Amino acid sequence: MSLPLPDSADDWGFETRAIRAGTERSAFGEHSEALFLSSSFVFEDAAEAARRFQNTEPGMVYSRFTNPSVQMFEARLATLEDAEDCVATASGMSAILALCLGHLKAGDEIVTTGSLFGATIQLFDNFMAKFGVGIRYVALTDPQAWKDAIGPNTKLFYLETPSNPLTEIADLQAIGEIAQKAGVLSVVDNCFCTPALQRPLRFPVDLVLHSATKYIDGQGRVLGGAIAGPRALVDPVRQVVRTCGPSLSPFNAWVLLKSLETLAVRMRAHSENALALAQWLEQQPAVARVLYPGLPSHPQHALAMRQQSLGGAIVSFELRAENSDQARERAWALVDGVRIFSVTGNLGDTRSIITHPGSTTHGRIPEEARQRAGITQGLIRLAVGLESLKDLKADLAMVSDSDWKRRKN
Ligand SMILES: Cc1ncc(COP(=O)(O)O)c(C=O)c1O
Repeated sequence: MSLPLPDSADDWGFETRAIRAGTERSAFGEHSEALFLSSSFVFEDAAEAARRFQNTEPGMVYSRFTNPSVQMFEARLATLEDAEDCVATASGMSAILALCLGHLKAGDEIVTTGSLFGATIQLFDNFMAKFGVGIRYVALTDPQAWKDAIGPNTKLFYLETPSNPLTEIADLQAIGEIAQKAGVLSVVDNCFCTPALQRPLRFPVDLVLHSATKYIDGQGRVLGGAIAGPRALVDPVRQVVRTCGPSLSPFNAWVLLKSLETLAVRMRAHSENALALAQWLEQQPAVARVLYPGLPSHPQHALAMRQQSLGGAIVSFELRAENSDQARERAWALVDGVRIFSVTGNLGDTRSIITHPGSTTHGRIPEEARQRAGITQGLIRLAVGLESLKDLKADLAMVSDSDWKRRKN
């Protein structure tokens, strides 16, 4: 069950839909959406209760199934992703789990890539594999490899673009077409771009998935997730959420509804700050290379700009060093030296965040595999926030020193 959009919503611009689509007013006529903190809902009589339970009549039953605040969030996100339907979940990971439970069975195979969020890889390798689902890993940026990996049991292509932390770009048109021709379900985690910058469903992609915890909230407050796409493909996931219970809390849905109202302006501002910082970093003597899809020097800049309207907030760069030990020492000195950038495990916040992937998010991968994946010890990931650009540059000023050793000693 999902809420119908107002008749005019299809004609509205993105910003208008982000603020107004999906709104349902109660009898009080509140201007801002109400927060419906109720675990269950009452029925007029036994016949209405029966109809609601049998799903032959739309309406609220119990907040594990449906809740007005959650439905408003689902309806609004669906229209922003150009999707027919959307189901919200408690977190991004529960969206991925519900996707797998809804669409896969023992013996099926997932084709995916190592350039994925670490917990997604663990979910596939440690849990889906336990239930007899096979996993094949291919290079994110090589559509032919995706094609070659298809076997008789392949059911799902799963990817993120841009990737974390190297900002590699997947060709959504090419990979989507390959999946479509083979009758394989294709799913794109759009949490780095959000629909403000990239709409995967405009390509031959079946479903779009979110950790709403990241830029959809954008202010580091709540966890949430969602899957959007055609009703026939969203529905199996909705049945998992209703039955198994990884439902979004009404409070988080209400916070996320407010967040969507500012999504477009936030993503533009994140991208402007990130591009300016990336351009500045490229000029700094201590920096060997900068990875940002909005920079012409990015190896897939042209592809990124065909798929994304702007580069997003994630900028990675590598510090110059003579060897791996020195690279790590310099990266840690930079992380320890900042005062504005937060040293934290999250991203997708108005507050800028600095991470050393080699010893944190990718710290448990064996050194050789890490090197192969391009996660060197000199690599730094920034999730650029909305603070003043001059303050962010001043905070990273250590990289302007051409003689790092002299400064550090
Ligand atoms: C790309 C991506 N997908 C999914 C997730 C998981 O989301 P959550 O933490 O909301 O479960 C994350 C979390 O960092 C992520 O970065």
